[in-house]
Amino acid sequence: NTHRIAVLAGDGIGKEVMPEGLRALKAAAKKFDLDLHFDEFDFASCDYYARHGEMMPQDWKDRVGGHDAIFFGAVGWPDTVPDHISLWGSLLQFRREFDQYVNLRPVKLMPGVPCPLAGREPGDIDFLVVRENTEGEYSSIGGKMYAGTEREIVIQETVMSRQGIDRILAFAFDVAQSRPRKKLTSATKSNGISITMPYWDERVAEMSKTRPDVSVDQYHIDILTAHFVLNPDRFDVVVGSNLFGDILSDLGPACTGTIGIAPSANLNPPKNFPSLFEPVHGSAPDIAGQGIANPVGQIWAGAMMLDHLGHSDAASAMTDAIEGVLADETLRTKDLGGPLGTEECGKAIAAAI
Ligand code: NAI
Ligand code: MG
Repeated sequence: NTHRIAVLAGDGIGKEVMPEGLRALKAAAKKFDLDLHFDEFDFASCDYYARHGEMMPQDWKDRVGGHDAIFFGAVGWPDTVPDHISLWGSLLQFRREFDQYVNLRPVKLMPGVPCPLAGREPGDIDFLVVRENTEGEYSSIGGKMYAGTEREIVIQETVMSRQGIDRILAFAFDVAQSRPRKKLTSATKSNGISITMPYWDERVAEMSKTRPDVSVDQYHIDILTAHFVLNPDRFDVVVGSNLFGDILSDLGPACTGTIGIAPSANLNPPKNFPSLFEPVHGSAPDIAGQGIANPVGQIWAGAMMLDHLGHSDAASAMTDAIEGVLADETLRTKDLGGPLGTEECGKAIAAAI
């Protein structure tokens, strides 16, 4: 029951919601008798960049690599450091170097959160988006030819490997198998992208033979995005390539209300490296420093971390506490029309745990 956790709050509201994430984790640890050790680091932030001229120290991998998980806030301060430098110099390094090949995002309509889709009630929307996080459309293979001339050509290749597809599908099928509905939806576009996407479909069909109890359907990505909005109750586990998963994992949480509550996990399922847990939102410079950010995304990410570390009971206690607090209009933050600041809302959730 002992776990060492690397804590990186980052920038802006990351530094405001992180203490509430830790408060909730400590409450869960106390209740379930877990021994959580938190090591806080100041790198992967634009403040660190201002002092050192880089986002992270050269030995960052050694310093966080030995931990059981990474608990991350949000990085980015565009006024001082361009986003491509802050993000590539931090978060994307973790995803790649620690082979976090699964990006997992729950999409759940919570009581008390206004749903942007008409007529939907809590209980109607409850699914997971599983995104391939290491290959696919986001390769760096390609280039520009005849630059600056009328013959200019740019090419960027999609890379899909059997191993890369099979490991994300195995993860998605296993998660589907563990859920009551046992349903998997695959995002494809094999009518238009005629080499890689049919191969993706072929691997889905192959994997489905080994998990016959999981029912599988597939949609082309264009109509799938429409179904996210029109028929979100249809989904249980949705799996997609890096690009399709990226789109779906922003669209899904957007269909269930505020960005302030959505969590995200970057997982290395074999546990050869630490996995990283973070809220979906960024550093929100427009509200930073005011103490009004919603801490739920950070706390929910903490629940996903405990689940990954094998403590599903403690994780459920945290998500139950979140649901209870969101359902009470006197305990919500301003973005949800409530009266509370970040710290008061965080304390209410910790007390509920
Ligand atoms: P953002 O998520 O920081 O903010 C978007 C909007 O949502 C803002 O109006 C903000 O006030 C609101 N918001 C976000 N989180 C909230 C919360 N917890 N409670 C209440 N309201 C909340 O996205 P934006 O503005 O595009 O990016 C700002 C910076 O964050 C940039 O530097 C960007 O690169 C970085 N970023 C970092 C991410 C990460 O660390 N994973 C993810 C997204 C953006
Ligand atoms: Mg995205």
